[in-house]
Amino acid sequence: MIPQGFIDDLLARVDIVDVIDARTTLKKTGKNYSGLCPFHNEKTPSFSVEPDKQFYYCFGCGAGGNAIGFVMNYENLDFPDAIENIAAQMGIEVPREESSVSQKVREKNQSIYDVLQQSARYYQAQLRQHPQRLRAVEYLKNRGLSGEIARDFALGYAPPGWGNLLEAVGSNEQQKKALLNAGMLIENPDNKNHPLYDRFRDRIIYPIRDSRGRIIAFGGRVLGDDKPKYLNSPETPVFHKGEELYGLYEARKNTRKLERIVIVEGYMDVIALAQNDIPYCVATLGTATSTAHLRRLFKLVPEVVFCFDGDNAGRDAAWRAFEQVLPLMEDGRTARFLFLPEGEDPDSQVRRIGKSEFVRNLSEATQLAEFFFESLGKKVDMNSLEGRASLGKMALPHIRKIPAGIYHQLILDQLSSITGVDLQTIQAMDNPTPPDASPRPQLVNTVSRPPVIKKKTGRSVCMKAVNLILLKPDMVAELDENGELAKIDSPDIDLLLQVIALAKKYPSSSTPELLGRIYATPLGSQLTQLLSKEQITPEEGVVQEFNEIINHLLHTQRRRLNHHNWLEEARQKVKSSRIDQIPPEES
Ligand code: UTP
Ligand code: MN
Repeated sequence: MIPQGFIDDLLARVDIVDVIDARTTLKKTGKNYSGLCPFHNEKTPSFSVEPDKQFYYCFGCGAGGNAIGFVMNYENLDFPDAIENIAAQMGIEVPREESSVSQKVREKNQSIYDVLQQSARYYQAQLRQHPQRLRAVEYLKNRGLSGEIARDFALGYAPPGWGNLLEAVGSNEQQKKALLNAGMLIENPDNKNHPLYDRFRDRIIYPIRDSRGRIIAFGGRVLGDDKPKYLNSPETPVFHKGEELYGLYEARKNTRKLERIVIVEGYMDVIALAQNDIPYCVATLGTATSTAHLRRLFKLVPEVVFCFDGDNAGRDAAWRAFEQVLPLMEDGRTARFLFLPEGEDPDSQVRRIGKSEFVRNLSEATQLAEFFFESLGKKVDMNSLEGRASLGKMALPHIRKIPAGIYHQLILDQLSSITGVDLQTIQAMDNPTPPDASPRPQLVNTVSRPPVIKKKTGRSVCMKAVNLILLKPDMVAELDENGELAKIDSPDIDLLLQVIALAKKYPSSSTPELLGRIYATPLGSQLTQLLSKEQITPEEGVVQEFNEIINHLLHTQRRRLNHHNWLEEARQKVKSSRIDQIPPEES
């Protein structure tokens, strides 16, 4: 990373005229410079450089940008190399301390991964060799685990004693330091006998692996009933327990084609389920399931099943999981909630009822919509008008979080039939127009005049909008890139949303300044390529054209929704209305 301060400084010192003139011939024309455009073939000059604005553009091909953008395009360089190039031309050195810092970080992390790997190997060997290994082996056998499963999960045994790992892996100062950084040793100068000692002692060891299979931490369980039952590695540079899922690596490795993932609570649940031939389970590490966890899982499978205790705490945990999963419920995805009988966990349950019944329970587990309406229904009196109305009121804010699509529509539909309020009214409530329409200029004057968007050229409408924002960054101040816009399905919409966010963050940027900000993000190179195909719009038309585009996008999206709606009604006529029977949306 190059510090932003350096980039700002470089842009303040560089003269775009020098940068471009060194590469293509410019002629002074009034206060600007012009020449033949280096980005397309032309006989008469339509390429112009404005020293005042430190900006170039071409009336012929639409290329435009600041000095960095020019060098990126002209030399075909990425952002850091373009900075490097310009700095070299000016005889300035690009600061490099940061990258040497990150190199040190990388080296330190590598030493942590190394000792964790060595520790895992050591613990696994103790399960086979240590004089006291039989206690551990017996424990695992009693819990129904085979040697094969112990191997798949790389289970191990930390023998009794304060300095086993210290001696076996901490052979020199460097190793000791790495073990400390890895959380495997505990330092306590007050402890005269053991100022430095093993964290895990006389425990079954469960290595925790990241998605690449690297060992990043351990859990350790007592063999008896001592407390604490589990010890876990602390947070370290390679272990952030809120982000990890125990068993995910093993699930991917041991399942030919993952179709569903089950989320349980404990290490032993994951392992017992795998032992019973249900090898697609993961556990969060003592934290609640987050949207980030779920996003990762939905990249791998279309269906996630949460397993909870049947008691009140389990219901509460299920509601928290429900809130996390809502924004990810795109069409074709399924989330279910399996509630276990009182006093059972997945480990005891699968051992009691066996694989096939457990799998049947998974397949028949409560659907998200069912859980949702059931939970809300418990809070109101569904026999009264007021009760049904307040259910509707409570439901809508949640439903709004579901991405646009058939599923979203179906839930609205269900809400309508449960509350007895007709679908149109519910939909109007789901899509509230802001009470004060004036600060949203994009909504003005759209009905009378349909937007004219030329699509012939093949460039995307969103890119056009991006181009316009660059010319007038402050016009997006009132737009909400996380609102309805975020639901639009259109090429380059993500890019547009990100540029809107940037423009909102730096509303008073000039075009070249904003470009400079964008070039510094991963968007940069994508943007320079696309921008070179864009036309520059005369300044007066910018706001109007931008509003037309945004309206067009929103309009198209709403039409798409209505189409889904119509499609769905047609389906409802031939099918039962069970939500889980609707196939994924065809595209
Ligand atoms: P459980 O007690 O349900 O774990 O706690 P488990 O895996 O089912 O344990 P046993 O072996 O069958 O009795 C769920 C999770 O909470 C964390 C662990 O991640 C555990 O797997 N936990 C629990 C701790 O970190 N420390 C504890 O002392 C207890
Ligand atoms: Mn258990």
